[in-house]
Amino acid sequence: MHTEIKRTAVYVYEAPVRLWHWINALAITVLAASGWFIANPLPTLPGEASDHFVMGYIRFAHFAAAYIFAVAFLGRIYWAFVGNSHSRQLFSLPLHRLSFWRELLHEVRWYAFLEQEPKKYVGHNPLAHLVMVAIITVGGIAMVLTGFALYAEQSGLGSWQDQLFGWLIPLVGQSQDVRLWHHWGMWIIVIFVVIHVYVAIREDIVSRQSLISTMVSGWRMFKDDRP
Ligand code: HEM
Ligand code: HEM
Repeated sequence: MHTEIKRTAVYVYEAPVRLWHWINALAITVLAASGWFIANPLPTLPGEASDHFVMGYIRFAHFAAAYIFAVAFLGRIYWAFVGNSHSRQLFSLPLHRLSFWRELLHEVRWYAFLEQEPKKYVGHNPLAHLVMVAIITVGGIAMVLTGFALYAEQSGLGSWQDQLFGWLIPLVGQSQDVRLWHHWGMWIIVIFVVIHVYVAIREDIVSRQSLISTMVSGWRMFKDDRP
């Protein structure tokens, strides 16, 4: 029997959002890998430190990616003002709407294989939306604040990092507390990334709408083989 598959496409993610997504993914990968080595340093090598500079290069990678992450995030905030409505999702949550919570529950059940029918969304589904705001927007800001506060200790009293972010250290407790929060933040983000990639691939296959190609081309395709 011949089944006709109807496809409709909607333009969702504009180029700056897509570019930011992939730059951000790359920066976070470098930050997590270099951060892991900062937390678990390699054994000391014999000779002058300046002859090999291994930890120096690892820290350089961390700080270079950190600046890219922070500047890209500022760019993403700017785009939320001038971009389309989907570009604002990362910065607003409709928590006051009952339908948001109802659909959130549906998504949790759908991901747990307890629902038969996927719901379709042009932008993010409510569960993805909530998790992205919590981990990327709130978590990302927390990583920038704690990261630059740690950086301020090295750039010194009175440096711009110290003036802008130094206040965080006494607020949190002391330097080691800030380091621990920064460290736990990494694990929260790493867990998010693992689940995010699993879900993106899973939904692309079973939810009858495109996901991965949407973050490449910007277009969401809805596939429907029912009349
Ligand atoms: C460090 C790695 C990654 C991070 C931190 C990350 C983060 C994010 C964020 C914040 C968004 C929301 C974008 C926005 O609204 O502006 C998003 C969307 C998306 N990401 Fe990632 N991502 C990562 C890696 C990946 C990878 C490797 C894939 C592909 C397998 C992927 C696929 C997607 C897709 C398909 C969407 C759109 C979801 C939708 O249409 O609702 N991401 N990601
Ligand atoms: C997703 C973002 C980030 C991740 C996953 C991450 C991860 C980490 C980890 C795991 C550590 C080691 C902490 C420890 O000693 O236990 C670290 C250290 C550090 N991070 Fe980040 N980081 C991120 C963003 C940033 C940002 C935006 C900055 C801003 C400059 C930054 C600056 C620092 C500094 C200064 C240190 C201490 C380095 C040292 O003592 O040698 N990080 N980071």
